[in-house]
Amino acid sequence: MWFRVLLLGILVGSGAGAQEGDRTGEEQRSLVPRELIPPAPPLSPEEALKSFRLQPGFRVECVAADPLVQNPIQIAFDPDGRLWVLEMRGYMPNIDGRGELEKSGDVVVLEDTDGDGRMDKRTVFLDGLVMPRALALVRGGVLVAEPPNLWFCRDTNGDLKCDEKSAVASDYAIEADPKLGARANHEHTANGLLRNLDNWIYSANYTARFRNTDGFWQREPTIYRGQWGISQDDFGRLFYNSNEDPLRADFVPSHYLVRNPHHRNPAGVNVKLYDDRAVWPSRVNPGVNRGYRPGQLRPDGTLATFTAACAPLVYRGDDFPREFEGNVFVCEPSANLIKRYVLEDQGVGFKAKNAYDRAEFLASTDERFRPVNLNNGPDGCLYLVDMYHGILEHHLYVTSYLRQQILDRGLDKHSGLGRIYRVVSESKAPGPRPHLSRARPEELVECLSHPNGWWRDTAQRLLVEGNDPSVVAALKQLAVSGASPLGRLHALWTLEGTRQLDLAVLKKAISDAHPKVRAAAMRISEPLLKNQAELVDELLRHVDDPAPEAQLQLALTLGEIREPRAEQALAQIALRNAGDIYLRDAIVSGLEGRELEFLEGLLRGSGLAGTNAGAEKLLGALAECVFTEVNPDRVNRLLDLAASGLAGGDGQRAALLDGIINTAPPRAKGSAKIKPVHLKAEPGALAVLARSEAKGIQERAKKIADLIIWPGKLGAEPEANVRPLSAEEQKWFEQGKELFLVSCGACHQPHGMGQEGLAPPLVDTDWVLGPPQRMVRIVLHGLHGPVNVKGRTYQLDMPALGVFDDDQIAGILTYVRREWGHTATPVEPELVKKIRAETEKREEAWTEAELMKIP
Ligand code: HEC
Repeated sequence: MWFRVLLLGILVGSGAGAQEGDRTGEEQRSLVPRELIPPAPPLSPEEALKSFRLQPGFRVECVAADPLVQNPIQIAFDPDGRLWVLEMRGYMPNIDGRGELEKSGDVVVLEDTDGDGRMDKRTVFLDGLVMPRALALVRGGVLVAEPPNLWFCRDTNGDLKCDEKSAVASDYAIEADPKLGARANHEHTANGLLRNLDNWIYSANYTARFRNTDGFWQREPTIYRGQWGISQDDFGRLFYNSNEDPLRADFVPSHYLVRNPHHRNPAGVNVKLYDDRAVWPSRVNPGVNRGYRPGQLRPDGTLATFTAACAPLVYRGDDFPREFEGNVFVCEPSANLIKRYVLEDQGVGFKAKNAYDRAEFLASTDERFRPVNLNNGPDGCLYLVDMYHGILEHHLYVTSYLRQQILDRGLDKHSGLGRIYRVVSESKAPGPRPHLSRARPEELVECLSHPNGWWRDTAQRLLVEGNDPSVVAALKQLAVSGASPLGRLHALWTLEGTRQLDLAVLKKAISDAHPKVRAAAMRISEPLLKNQAELVDELLRHVDDPAPEAQLQLALTLGEIREPRAEQALAQIALRNAGDIYLRDAIVSGLEGRELEFLEGLLRGSGLAGTNAGAEKLLGALAECVFTEVNPDRVNRLLDLAASGLAGGDGQRAALLDGIINTAPPRAKGSAKIKPVHLKAEPGALAVLARSEAKGIQERAKKIADLIIWPGKLGAEPEANVRPLSAEEQKWFEQGKELFLVSCGACHQPHGMGQEGLAPPLVDTDWVLGPPQRMVRIVLHGLHGPVNVKGRTYQLDMPALGVFDDDQIAGILTYVRREWGHTATPVEPELVKKIRAETEKREEAWTEAELMKIP
């Protein structure tokens, strides 16, 4: 939980009395007997090494330790193997977090001058930083995150000290409204800065990605991912996590899934990978924030499940045995351990399994061991960043219980320590130190096929940044005929990064022997497809590609082509793969505004004759999109289709109708109604459906009748029942919309349909349409799960957003109560003001039970 707050300490703790993390009504008793809790004095690095319980076949070596390094939170190796370290020395220097806003953070460069494997020289590159959060090496300089700024820092005279600093972003805190600055949400602050295979830089806890082309920074929106740390596999798929949720990944590049606004909450990003959240510490863990809650700790005092999962890393080195390739390591600093997950392929996606039975890859008996980041080293080893800090939780969250635990063992003392370790395999010596800063471009091209991912990534970065025309031929050669598939993959993306791709290379690469190279070539070919019919021909030759990843990418890429033959190919893929949710959603993602025609085409064809659950889901998803479009003519055509003679019979009919009904799932009584779709006349098809004798069709027709309206409809509420907004209310609405998009929309999504694992929907929920008094409270102080939203239980946390003023909150709430067809009453600033005053003393988030008592 700490990294959620590692983040920006705005408030300074009160010190005595109740703690900011306390929740009313909870008794906080220690459940671990005192005699079972060992003392926790700071250990020397040598002693600390002895505290590690590590799986056989490995050893841990100390690479750097205090006083050479202090409070490290992130590291990066430069092309010559020097270690760049971000030190967050302001983090909880004492139990109340006093002084955390002092300019004590810095970026240092560590070097091993005598080649003994241990760093011995420290140079301060940049100091005076307030709670810095992330760093990344780029274009001969460094990106440094110091919320709310993201700086690009350079040393222009070669003394290894920053002498030039420019801002790349000034909202690198959260998806902040510039008017609110970093304060918009101090619980979620951007970090990560991972340079991906696709040449973009991605962050955790942030909704934009960056790319530097020819010295200029480009910025694009992307989805929100995880909380602390972000990683990629060999194919550029992103991994992230948060607190109790140890591993998620994107199976599909996210920009595809936001293409179609009618298609809500598509699958393929933010996918949960694990079933089991258990952790197996090597010591008792009474020092976790909610350690007093039954179930948080096992009867033996060890932490039962993840509570501070962070910093996932896909192992891509070449020092560990083969079976470690592509494994994901996850830090749990609150229980002093590092988990190893093994991934199992499942079609286009995968699942993560704990590699050991009731054991961990590495677990320490030292309570101060705080692994907060992991890296792949140039030597192929796994690097651990150990903040070595007694206090992990930020004071904004510390409970009275934890405060006592900290004081009992003096964990608030000895700030300013820190270690960096490497885990080395006993079966292979670590690889050599790199000297890539002076490498010739041809040498870098060779490194693109290196077995160690660090070398491949670094070479790709240097080649893209150098953009040397003399190596283009060698890169093209590698892309089409390199011996290693990974080398061919990196060559393609290097050519993409330097905009040197041509038709001949792409045509060949689309038919590469390796499916992941084929998929990359398809994706990279998109900008050329408009003018190059030959390339489209080449793509269409792969409609029957047997590899799931190539099928998936083909479905995504075909959605970019507006040609009948591409649509036909999509239909073919759909018929074969409709049972796969990721392929289904990939197809629908590319069909904005064409869903109805595609649906008609599918139903006209013969392929869908037999009933099949996957195909019916696809039909439902397409019908949902058409209805979401609210175009009367197209809604009529959809209803005609549903009432027509379908080859797949009533099963298909029911699927189409369910798709429509899905646009407005059941609501509790008393909620304001969703705005119906207006048709010019009573749809004849509906009357036909309402008379159907087939099982369940009449009921469905009845539900749909509630979602549409036509002049003279019997029993329809007159239009005038929905009061139009006054001019002033309309103003709140407009301002609310803007604020919504930059704050709430980051989690609940601009379309209000929520996002899996991040936030529930707002469209048509009782929380939004019911008494506004509840929603005002949610925004002021946050919401703590479990909560029921549209019949589903969410166990998440919504942060407090009381930093918005009364007018702003009224605007946002008026907006959400009137957007998406909602017709609920607007919310007045006076109401917000009144509730803010009434709840002034409140600090903790609301629970469902409390809010339900509010009428
Ligand atoms: C950081 C992500 C995040 C942001 C930003 C956010 N929410 Fe939420 N919201 C959540 C989560 C998570 C839940 C569910 C909480 C739980 O499980 O206890 C939620 C629940 C809700 C609910 C009740 C359930 C529902 O879906 O109807 C409402 C209403 C709501 N949020 C409104 C808002 C509004 C309005 C804003 C902007 C002022 C906002 N939220 C900003 C994450 C967020």
